[in-house]
Amino acid sequence: MSMLQQLEQAEHQALSELRDVRDLEALRAWKSTYLGKSGPIAEVSRSLGRLSPEERPRVGQRINAVKQQLQQAYDELEQRLIAAARARELEQDRVDVSLPGRPVVAGRLHLLTQTQREIERIFGQMGFTVWESREVELDEYNFGLLNFPPDHPARDLQDTFFVATPPDAPPVVLRTHTSPGQIHAMRRFAPEPVRVILPGKCYRNEQVTVRSEMQFSQVEGLAVGQNITMADLKGTLAAFAQQMFGAEAAIRFRPSYFPFTEPSVEVDVRCFLCGGQGCRLCKGSGWLEILGAGMVHPTVLRNGGYDPAQFSGFAFGMGIERMAMLKYGIDDIRWFLSGDLRFLEQF
Ligand code: PHE
Repeated sequence: MSMLQQLEQAEHQALSELRDVRDLEALRAWKSTYLGKSGPIAEVSRSLGRLSPEERPRVGQRINAVKQQLQQAYDELEQRLIAAARARELEQDRVDVSLPGRPVVAGRLHLLTQTQREIERIFGQMGFTVWESREVELDEYNFGLLNFPPDHPARDLQDTFFVATPPDAPPVVLRTHTSPGQIHAMRRFAPEPVRVILPGKCYRNEQVTVRSEMQFSQVEGLAVGQNITMADLKGTLAAFAQQMFGAEAAIRFRPSYFPFTEPSVEVDVRCFLCGGQGCRLCKGSGWLEILGAGMVHPTVLRNGGYDPAQFSGFAFGMGIERMAMLKYGIDDIRWFLSGDLRFLEQF
């Protein structure tokens, strides 16, 4: 067979085989078979040297022509196969823009935050400024300046978390209530009148039960000025109770004792479950205790920088968890810090 015939045959075979190529992989294999180094065209090229100088250019030209033609056929089919593959992909991955979206799970504020904000809103309307005070507190502010005697049982290691300090440093505690904030606020504003609420976390080394946690939250209230009386305290708390628990909510004062107020009271709200008849929630009494309060003790006023002969004031302190438990009928304080979504998602 002459070299021209060989070329003819190779070309014919290559083009006829190309008609059966259906994918890129087969196409690449086809190319290496016919246009590769050990293919029939390369083989003819290698034998060119055996031809006479007259014949060589003719065969050389023919080699180039065949190569070019096969390369062109290859390029064309490659383009078509790539386009077809892309079209197939687009078809398979098609996005149906009419499908409903996946719902985004929205977070929410923790019930304690919600309740705190509600309390802040109510007192804010009455002209109280929200103030924050430290959680790690000098023993002096938590107890001494609030008129606790040095041997008061609340200082007991049983109740108070003490912070480790050098032996010659003043004792430091995790505040057991928000009342030390009263001293900070008075010292900041005296001798000007002051009307603030102080929300925040408190800590007591207590047995954890359905009623008590070691960490809990309070909102302190303080108003100091001239001619502030117990009637102002009562009116303020009555207005608060009505906004917090409904227009029907009535409050009552019961005498009590706190070292930093004189007189001191415990404040109850009429049971909103039974309307005062007596039920399971109020344990038959018709009333629910909501907070402690009183007129700021003269010693505390003086410690805050006010002259008790000219100034008077009231203070109150309430548990935020307790407010929420009463309002929503929650029976176990431990739910609040449980992180349990079944609880949290209800609010
Ligand atoms: N600090 C008191 C408590 O934790 C509450 C209170 C605050 C009472 C202000 C009177 C005045 O129980």
